[in-house]
Amino acid sequence: MNIFVWVTLTLSVYVRCSTAQGKKFVCSFSPSKADLIGYQPENIPLEVCPDVIFKAFSFPSIVGRQILFSDNEKIAFSRVVSSVRKRSNTARIVASIDGTARDFATTSIAIVRRKAFVQAAVELLLELDADAIELNWKASSNSGNDRATMVQLLQDLRHAVIAASKSRNRTRELWFRGSLHPSLLADAYNIFDVCELVDHVTLDPSTAESLENSHAPLYGTPQELGMYIPNIGTVYYPKNGFNTTTQRWIDEGCAPKKLLLGIGLYGISRIFSPALAPYLYNKVNLLAPNGTHLEHRELCKYIREAGWSYAWDGYGGMPYVTRTLQNGLVERISYEDLDSLRLKMDMVEQKRFGGIYIDYVHSDDIYGSCGQAYTLTTYLSRRVHTIPSDIGFAIEWN
Ligand SMILES: *[C@@H]1O[C@H](CO)[C@@H](O)[C@H](O)[C@H]1NC(C)=O
Ligand SMILES: *[C@@H]1O[C@H](CO)[C@@H](O)[C@H](O)[C@H]1NC(C)=O
Ligand SMILES: *[C@@H]1O[C@H](CO)[C@@H](O)[C@H](O)[C@H]1NC(C)=O
Repeated sequence: MNIFVWVTLTLSVYVRCSTAQGKKFVCSFSPSKADLIGYQPENIPLEVCPDVIFKAFSFPSIVGRQILFSDNEKIAFSRVVSSVRKRSNTARIVASIDGTARDFATTSIAIVRRKAFVQAAVELLLELDADAIELNWKASSNSGNDRATMVQLLQDLRHAVIAASKSRNRTRELWFRGSLHPSLLADAYNIFDVCELVDHVTLDPSTAESLENSHAPLYGTPQELGMYIPNIGTVYYPKNGFNTTTQRWIDEGCAPKKLLLGIGLYGISRIFSPALAPYLYNKVNLLAPNGTHLEHRELCKYIREAGWSYAWDGYGGMPYVTRTLQNGLVERISYEDLDSLRLKMDMVEQKRFGGIYIDYVHSDDIYGSCGQAYTLTTYLSRRVHTIPSDIGFAIEWN
């Protein structure tokens, strides 16, 4: 047999087996960001991305008793759907819906509006042929009162999704975006109910971006306190790291297999004055709270320029580079590389999450400017597929 045919066959059997019972690997696609670089839905590599999240529909507008999604966004979504369906009959597409806590709460609390929202969501499933809808309910710290309305909306959507699955005889799903900000976790969600009602919770890494010097930290950096403080001691361990914040979702009753850890394929650059650093415990996140996003495909070239010093943040579990600018300020960029991704995937495996999603597939080195094209995506996809499934895990232990 021709070696290439053999390799393709083996690979596809391998991928099918692993997706059948294994972990999920989901790629997100943003038409507005992809457009800027001429990246088309046709460019999404479905061989590695069996599930695609469309990011995103803006919160629909309320017109009388109706709730309507934007026509332009519907067109952009349809382009993704038709490109994906043409190339694959197993790939699944998730329509993500953005909204502030205020948007969602005011819609959910009024019965007529909640019904209209559900109707609009069903249209995304049945008319625009989405396999799932995801709510990106951007919780905020004073949204404690929204917890009940959130559950109400999810209940109604759950019913609608079940009905939609029956009417077309294809499984439709309900997903929910969850925060990894430690101060939100306790207040914003009725985690147990949310997890019961949805098929997947996608844990958004960008919600923790400004808490540590590493923007997607595995652990928080302990701080030496000047004095002994009762119940804390002399060292304070912030609970900012993903190892702690993701565990909160599990400890509050979410089934780990429903959780999909988000992995951002970008770095954050912060420019600060080194003279001020000692006054803020060298916390760059405080010196320059608003970082600049750098997509991995740009970043990988940028940090190869002369003048950067490479370093590793042991607590964050992420690399960073620094260099002094001509005006005396320092630029520091934290980013993901294969080592930081390996640590994150070790955690995904250890905590037995359902899988991961990446933000965005077109943030990766799509042109192969720094080596193989899609290096990070390929690594993550391979790694996800080598995690033993929970069935395998159970057999192993019986
Ligand atoms: C729905 O799908 C199932 C399995 O895919 C099949 O057995 C069943 O006959 C289908 N029902 C209808 C009404 O198409
Ligand atoms: C990470 O979280 C797990 C589960 O809570 C815990 O057992 C483990 O000790 C944590 N790791 C570190 C280094 O804190
Ligand atoms: C930083 O971001 C916050 C929130 O987005 C904004 O209110 C503030 O004006 C920004 N500050 C600077 C210096 O850009």
